[in-house]
Amino acid sequence: MRFALPLLLATVSTAACTPTLEAQAPAAAQAERLVAPILTTPDAVDSATFARPQVARVTHVDLDLALDFERKRVAGTATLDVLARADAGEIVLDSNGLVIDRVTDGQGRALAFEVGDRVEGKGEPVTVSLRTDEGQARQVVIHYAANPQANALQWLAPEQTAGGEHPFLFSQGQAILNRSWIPTQDSPGIRQTWRARITAPEPLDVVMSGVAQGEPEALGNGRRAFTFLMDKPVPPYLIAIAAGDIDFRAIGPRTGVWAEPEVLDRAHHEVADTEDMVEAAEELYGPYRWGRYDMIVLPPAFPYGGMENPVMTFLTPTFIAGDRSLTGLVAHELAHSWSGNLVTNAVWGDGWLNEGVTSYFENRIVEAIYGEKRARQEVALDYMAILDTLEEVGRDAPGTALHHPEGTDSAGSAIVYNKGAAFLRTLEREVGRERFDAWLRQWFDNHAFQPATSNMIYEDMRTNLARNAAEAERLMLREWIFEPGLPANVAKPDPAAFAAVDAASAAYAGQATIPAAATWRGWTSAERQRFLRQVPRDRTAQQLAALDRQLGLAATGNNEELFLWLDLALANRYAPAVPQAESFLAEVGRAKFVRPLFVTLMGEGDWGQAIARRIYAETRPGYHAVTRGSVDRVLGWEE
Ligand code: BES
Ligand code: ZN
Repeated sequence: MRFALPLLLATVSTAACTPTLEAQAPAAAQAERLVAPILTTPDAVDSATFARPQVARVTHVDLDLALDFERKRVAGTATLDVLARADAGEIVLDSNGLVIDRVTDGQGRALAFEVGDRVEGKGEPVTVSLRTDEGQARQVVIHYAANPQANALQWLAPEQTAGGEHPFLFSQGQAILNRSWIPTQDSPGIRQTWRARITAPEPLDVVMSGVAQGEPEALGNGRRAFTFLMDKPVPPYLIAIAAGDIDFRAIGPRTGVWAEPEVLDRAHHEVADTEDMVEAAEELYGPYRWGRYDMIVLPPAFPYGGMENPVMTFLTPTFIAGDRSLTGLVAHELAHSWSGNLVTNAVWGDGWLNEGVTSYFENRIVEAIYGEKRARQEVALDYMAILDTLEEVGRDAPGTALHHPEGTDSAGSAIVYNKGAAFLRTLEREVGRERFDAWLRQWFDNHAFQPATSNMIYEDMRTNLARNAAEAERLMLREWIFEPGLPANVAKPDPAAFAAVDAASAAYAGQATIPAAATWRGWTSAERQRFLRQVPRDRTAQQLAALDRQLGLAATGNNEELFLWLDLALANRYAPAVPQAESFLAEVGRAKFVRPLFVTLMGEGDWGQAIARRIYAETRPGYHAVTRGSVDRVLGWEE
């Protein structure tokens, strides 16, 4: 279904934009809450949820939870506002290991509920009866606890923090992990507003992906209560929490950063360009609609580089290089405030709508803040990754299409992120920046706070970007979105972007000439990464030692470069690098670094496999479920 009106936020009383649901008289407190529409076309049906939102859906979540670090338990209540068809009778929620004690309606009367069979990777449905003596319940209150093994949550021991004294907790919701700690309908197409009251032991602070309401309240029992509100409907994967010994420092009037006190100086210095980035982003694609833009730099166990939790981006500390060379990460998470958080993929098979559009937008912010040279180099690195993936899986592999129909997987992030971005870059080149930017801005505006699908953006491009049918053909829109490989009109990266490095790579491959230390230091990080990726894979120990000596690879403070060095070293069974690889893997939980290092080790026969198994036995307990899951598969590890 397509919606004609640009503004599709309605109060509950005018929820007619969800036509199959009966608009019910709102309770007083609900009256002004915004309800986003649900898409009803087959391509918008999310197979990863048990919910049946056309029958009954959650519109608002109110959490009242206590954090218990000793027992690794989050427990309390979730009060859900429900919009249901008159004949619904029940509502289906998602769970993954939640321990549900009882369910009541808003007045405290018991409601029957049933936990269904577990489906691997998806969790289990919780079906709650809405039947009461006075008609259908409009609120359900779930009294529950999350399992200590909840896969969204990571409880860090003090040793895993910079301070070493206090425990730490963070959540990671995307894609379908939040059902392990929040009993709601966990689907990106079912947007919900939310509020939370969280209690935590002193002196820990709590942050969430919503706006803090007032100061924390001391409860007199060694605990404090923190309240947060998200009054804009968001997909539930964007509800996030972190708690630890953290401090805040402002950057600009609406930007700031949280981190452990030990990390805050370095973190603050690294993200100092953030306020300018927000301004640049607004200049490009319209107002930032979320109020504040704050970030938290988490302990290194965080499994991703970054996560675009609204008003509170979560970041790995491994992007801190001291010279802001890896802050494309911040630009990326910020860009999600439009692509992903404002306009959201309705199903995970259309993840390129979030990640591909964001990667394009990220590069435009990088260009605005750091200039064309850095932006072009990052484009060229991304393009190389697309070609690598196509080479690896084949140009006709279905997973290389941007849109993945239900039940099929993408061939990896180079497709979803980089091919997605290359598509938009191609459109920009074809129609010109001015027209392209106007189109993308109207896409964000017209679909703000709503879900979207590949079919919707395809139709939108045909009507609002292409001037006529002939131009639509020339843009190759259908090929780009629905077909594998790389369409013929792809905008190629600037061949001169890496001229200097590529000459140096050739000299190294040919005459074993290592770049001079001063040359190396004068390069951008993208240039150094390009060089490291181009080092021939068959190095002797002597050659590796010479490279390290001249370029200071093992001593670099740039983790992207350190990762490439360690990977190169391990791929050549270079024993002197093993202890450092081991300490890196013990400290850093970022799957993008951890998994490939284990893959490399596992490819190095008995030598590498023995090292991989030994290291993993030590480091596995310190990894988030996301990282554990991905490395378990590499090592064939069974719990
Ligand atoms: N939203 C993603 C992280 C994510 C994707 C989590 C899919 C779960 C499922 C985030 O915005 C992201 O893309 N992070 C990248 C940043 C990079 C591309 C700049 C990362 O973590 O490396
Ligand atoms: Zn992203």
